[in-house]
Amino acid sequence: MSELIVALDVPSRERALELVDRLGGEADFYKVGLELFTREGPSVVTALQDRGKRIFLDLKLMDIPNTVAATVAAASDLGVELLTVHAQGGARMIEAAVAQAGTGTRLLAVTVLTSLSPDEIETVWDRPVGSVRSEVLRLARLARSLGIHGVVASPLEAGELRTALGPEALVVTPGIRPSGTEHHDQNRVATPEAAVEAGASHLVVGRAITRAPDPAEAARRVRAAMRAALEGRG
Ligand code: C5P
Repeated sequence: MSELIVALDVPSRERALELVDRLGGEADFYKVGLELFTREGPSVVTALQDRGKRIFLDLKLMDIPNTVAATVAAASDLGVELLTVHAQGGARMIEAAVAQAGTGTRLLAVTVLTSLSPDEIETVWDRPVGSVRSEVLRLARLARSLGIHGVVASPLEAGELRTALGPEALVVTPGIRPSGTEHHDQNRVATPEAAVEAGASHLVVGRAITRAPDPAEAARRVRAAMRAALEGRG
């Protein structure tokens, strides 16, 4: 069963709660990212939880193992169910993060930021990178072998990642655009149906829902598309 995560890319707690109230029960999770968390702190998470909402905290952690482990423990204490860490933080960092995730917190690895061009990656890593796709797969496999629960990836890579990581892994895909809607600044997009068909377990949708004239109706449409694709997937 694939689940819908709505990205709360807004600068304040008021704006976040207003959106959540408009959406009612249409989202399975809400994603709180760096901007909202930095502005409002953990209280925005507890305010959402007080409304019965489940939280994906997208902090993309990368630091020394001790610091990341302590932060994962703090997020776990906060009752966050999904949390991101960078796969490039190294094996000891990932192992330390996994060890500190309580039973209710699942960790997702970010492999290669989709904003990076192949040229930028080669500059940062100082080596030729034949295919970004194979680097994504390599890092995802590495993180999975160290106990990570899943990955965040483009829907265009979801199928390969599902095959590589197995049926239990979470494959969380942003870059979702229902057919006929605007792409905004996203290049590598797919419809909800295509993401589910490729094996995504969770779809992250931001503007296609949050900027729709009727967000609840937009979310219902996305969910209907996800359900239809799941039935097709069997
Ligand atoms: O508005 P939109 O649906 O494009 O928002 C997608 C959300 O997913 C945003 O919060 C964005 O930061 C996040 N995201 C993404 N692409 C990635 C990783 C995360 O769009 N590769």
